[in-house]
Amino acid sequence: MSQLITEAWYVAAWSSEVGETPLARTICGKPIAMFRSGGEVIALHDACAHRQYPLSAGRVVDGHIRCGYHGFEYGVDGVCTRVPGQDEIPGNTRVDTYRVIERSGWIWIWPGNPERADPNAIPAVPWLNNPDWDGVRFTRRYECSSGLLHDNLLDLTHEAFLHEASIGDEAVYTNGITVEVTSTSVIVDRFMPDCHPSDLYVKAMGVQAPMDRWHTTDFHLPSLHVIHCGVGKPDAPRDEGYHLEVLNGITPETATSCWYFYANVRDFAQGDESINDMMRESLKQVLEEDKVALEMQQQVLSAGHAGGPDRLIAQDAGVAKARRLLRQMAAAEGADRT
Ligand code: FES
Ligand SMILES: [Fe+2]
Repeated sequence: MSQLITEAWYVAAWSSEVGETPLARTICGKPIAMFRSGGEVIALHDACAHRQYPLSAGRVVDGHIRCGYHGFEYGVDGVCTRVPGQDEIPGNTRVDTYRVIERSGWIWIWPGNPERADPNAIPAVPWLNNPDWDGVRFTRRYECSSGLLHDNLLDLTHEAFLHEASIGDEAVYTNGITVEVTSTSVIVDRFMPDCHPSDLYVKAMGVQAPMDRWHTTDFHLPSLHVIHCGVGKPDAPRDEGYHLEVLNGITPETATSCWYFYANVRDFAQGDESINDMMRESLKQVLEEDKVALEMQQQVLSAGHAGGPDRLIAQDAGVAKARRLLRQMAAAEGADRT
C-alpha cells in the first residue's frame, strides 16, 4: 500500500464543527486538536508536551488551550505559555502546529510541512454556503483506505448495481466515458443520452423519460471530487438542464480509514424542505451502501486475500490515471523525505 500523501490540502472539518470546545480528529495518521481562538481556527498536535495527554480533552481559556491533566497552556503558535506552579517554562516546550484555512464552510488542513502550504492550491467550492444552491450534507467515517473511495467515485458504473434502488440504472454502464488529465486533476465525463433519468431524479425534478443525463467527476488530487451532475431535455445544452453538484472531500485518517465530507446541492427546488428530506433519506442510504461495500473490500485486502492485481476495464480509464498520479505524488513526497 502506498504511503499517505501529507503535502496536500484536505478537508479537516465543516466550519460548524469547530468552536471553542476542542475537536479531536486524526488526519493522515496525525492526531490533531482543532479549536477557535478569537474566531480563528487553530490546529495543534493533539498530545501535551508534558506527558502526552490529548490537548483536545482540555479546554480553551482566553484564546489558549489548557491541558486537562496538569494545566499547561499553549498559544496559537503551539508554544507553551504557562506551567502551573512555576514561573519557568522548560526550554522549547511546544507542540506542532498545522496550517489551516477556512473557506466556504470547510476547514482545510495541510498535514505536511506548513512551509509548503500554498492557499492558492485549495480547490474552489463556490456551491457550498451559496444561497443559490440548496441541499444536504453528511459526514462519514469509512473503515477503508481513501484510495478505495477515490476508485469508487471515478468509476460510477457501480451505481447501476450497488445503488440500483435509487440513483443507478443501466444507462450508467452502457455509456462510455472520456477522461482528461490536467496538472492538478483527473476529469471523467459520462454522457447518457435519451435515457430514464433515475428514480431519484424523477422524484427530485418531476421529469419523465427520455432525458439526457451526464455526470462529470472532477478529481482534484488527492482530496476532493466534485461531481457535476445534470439532467436535461434531449439535445438541449447542458446549461439549460437541472444541475446538482456533489462535493466529496476525502481525507485519510489512517492507511485503512478515511473521513468523508459530502454535500449534494442543486440549483432547482431551493428551499423545498420536502425535496431536502427525500434527498437526505435517499442519499443516506447511498452512502451506507458505499460504506458497506468499501469496508468489505478493505477487509479482503487487509487480510491479504486479493486474488491478484485489479483487472481494470475500459470504464476504469479515470481510475487508472488517478492511481498513477497518486502514486507519483506519494513517491515524490517519499523522495523528498529521504
Ligand atoms: S500532560 Fe498536559 S499538563 Fe501534564
Ligand atoms: Fe456509490
